[in-house]
Amino acid sequence: MAVVEDGRRVLVNLVFSQERAHAPFGGVVPELAARAHLEKLPGLVRAALSQAGARGEDVDSLAVTRGPGLVGCRLVGVGLAQGLGAAWGRPVTGVSHLWGHVYAAMLARPDLEPPLLALVVSGAHSDLVRMPAHGEFEVVGRTRDDAAGEAFDKAARTLGLGYPGGPVLDREARRGDWRRQPLPVPALPGLEYSFSGLKTALLYRVRDLGGSAALGEQARADLAAAFERSVVESLLEKLGRALDEWPASEVVLCGGVAANTLLRERAQAALAGRARLTIPPLALCTDNAAMIAAAASHTPPGGDLEADPSLSW
Ligand code: KG4
Ligand code: ZN
Repeated sequence: MAVVEDGRRVLVNLVFSQERAHAPFGGVVPELAARAHLEKLPGLVRAALSQAGARGEDVDSLAVTRGPGLVGCRLVGVGLAQGLGAAWGRPVTGVSHLWGHVYAAMLARPDLEPPLLALVVSGAHSDLVRMPAHGEFEVVGRTRDDAAGEAFDKAARTLGLGYPGGPVLDREARRGDWRRQPLPVPALPGLEYSFSGLKTALLYRVRDLGGSAALGEQARADLAAAFERSVVESLLEKLGRALDEWPASEVVLCGGVAANTLLRERAQAALAGRARLTIPPLALCTDNAAMIAAAASHTPPGGDLEADPSLSW
């Protein structure tokens, strides 16, 4: 739940993490996620307003994620936004979650304007996107199988690192050296990503080493580092290629996976001298409400609020 001014200035940005609720199951349980939205959102509305020093009536408009995402959570969010909109007499805009990830970069850098090229890497997407103008997006590359975040989550499970996979694998990789357990770097032609072969390569390597329980501390860290390196190199190789094909002076790297330590470091180096790179701070990379408010200021008002499972960009 966030309060944002003029689409570019974050006044309050609250995130209730459900990690603890889902950890025992090793992944997100949709039913639990929807229930937690129902339980937590009203309190978060009160907290956000109070921290912003505002009343509901001070809010000019409301923005809510309309998709893509879990249908139960979307229904709760949209229902709440419509209720508040009716009570306060304010319009409600349904926003694409993916637009939100790109607009997070404009919260980080209020002077940033399209045209730009973005790499959006989250739990469900690895999309290379051209943004010629506000509210216009053209996907020029995507994954043919797993998204980068999904690949990190599964690799963490294969290595016995637990949940949430991306952040734990990142921490583990900091103690490792990829050269001791090198894994292949996916190399499809064109601008398409694929992480399923890499995932299988990791699975076989762990099996050859006697299974995840038999892995020594160092081998586990080395494998985490190798997996991370292969994903990051593949992500950046295609980003470079996309930039060759669609030159842009501004590049945005965003989505939950953009919180990854190696990706952040390597992206700076990979793009040096080619384009100006903007990576939102960690709290604006992973899912948050401020980015939805930022995207709403460039989304046609009213917007369809129906939950649409096929909604993408
Ligand atoms: O954008 P996001 O918060 O939610 C979705 O829209 O999916 O992205 C979540 C994804 C998860 O797969 C998570 O494991 C990954 O981002 N992630 C990371 C890191 N932090 C979050 N992956 C690698 N390294 C991280 N530090
Ligand atoms: Zn997301």
